[in-house]
Amino acid sequence: MKKISIIGSTGSIGTQALEVIEKLRDKFEIIALAGGHNKELLEAQAKKFNPRYSVLGEQGLEKICSDKENDIILVACSGKIGLRPTLTAIKNGINIALANKETLVMAGDIVMSEAKKRGVKIIPVDSEHCAIHQCIKDIAQVDKLIITASGGPFLHKSIAEMKNATVKEALAHPKWNMGKKITVDSATLMNKGLEIIEAHHLFGFDYDDIEVVVHPQSIVHSAIEYKDGSVIAQLGLPSMHIPIQYAISYPERFEGIKSKSFSFAEIARLDFEKPDFEKFPSVKLAYKAGRTGGTMTTCLNAANEEAVFAFLDGKIKLYNIYEIVEKMMSEHKVIQNPTIDEIFETDEQIRLLTREHIKTIAQKQP
Ligand SMILES: NC(=O)c1ccc[n+]([C@@H]2O[C@H](COP(=O)([O-])OP(=O)(O)OC[C@H]3O[C@@H](n4cnc5c(N)ncnc54)[C@H](OP(=O)(O)O)[C@@H]3O)[C@@H](O)[C@H]2O)c1
Repeated sequence: MKKISIIGSTGSIGTQALEVIEKLRDKFEIIALAGGHNKELLEAQAKKFNPRYSVLGEQGLEKICSDKENDIILVACSGKIGLRPTLTAIKNGINIALANKETLVMAGDIVMSEAKKRGVKIIPVDSEHCAIHQCIKDIAQVDKLIITASGGPFLHKSIAEMKNATVKEALAHPKWNMGKKITVDSATLMNKGLEIIEAHHLFGFDYDDIEVVVHPQSIVHSAIEYKDGSVIAQLGLPSMHIPIQYAISYPERFEGIKSKSFSFAEIARLDFEKPDFEKFPSVKLAYKAGRTGGTMTTCLNAANEEAVFAFLDGKIKLYNIYEIVEKMMSEHKVIQNPTIDEIFETDEQIRLLTREHIKTIAQKQP
């Protein structure tokens, strides 16, 4: 039995992880479950899965991540909350199934070097990185990573339509049912930007060797190109159950929750197109932040997260998110090789500046 804890068990990834575990009761023992605010759901989960303990809110996360009983911890909370518990788990030598992409965007260099130092495995849950993880056999022979993007709800809408998008439209993702923050990131394609930075840290590739391609069907979850031109891709139906199960059961594979066999004939066609960097400036911003390095990606993450919350609160328009992130990045004084304290300070400072800037934008809104 593998002993597991789930940070963010009440969210989209967390609840799907419990659906996976429900089918694999003889393979996993749950040590702890943690939610943010949803007490009712956490209690129902605790009743059903009988963890040794369950906690609500950020305070309990340190306890879970210091508990060496865990073989693996699934970090599935959203936003910046993921970083501290991930670092604590690494310091305690506990392997991580990482869904929370903001952790690597904020502090990828520190997280990956701490993990390497302690021999801790960081297994990606994000479907794209899970795909790459499955494709790579000999990393030294790989030339390029190819990350696919569904394109989100505005893929074939005009910039004008996107500028007037409502929160409801931005949350209507055509392929994936996810938490609100990542759904808005998918609508602006910032999610792809965050994933480029995540891929750079997970697999150690230069930004020049990480490419994005739009693939609306979300069947090819990502691919790699070997030196000799061979391309290996991972395919599957668009369901997060598969990457979640892969990450928590790695290196083993189980039948688990698999509901349907894959059929090329049923899928019939797979489309690919270049991303429109003019309509979706987020991808360019992420490449720029990644190439600049240091605290610039922390800045991008903090500004984006605050802007997304403001959009969800109806304070700003969707397109303001780009303008806000760009402004914060252009004014940010980068610290190269930051300490973890400098990262948290940068995060705090950028959030304050972003909130101030949002106030001025909100005042000008009709
Ligand atoms: N959903 C996907 O398909 C998907 C795919 C790839 C990657 N990811 C990544 O996975 C992460 C989670 O995404 P999601 O879609 O599952 O988000 P979500 O549905 O919003 O869930 C977030 C989880 O974090 C918990 N949380 C919030 N504040 C907390 C706090 N202060 N202390 C402890 N827990 C707290 C929430 O608890 P309450 O609900 O109880 O407040 C909830 O369990 C994100 O980083 C996202 O980018 C998600």
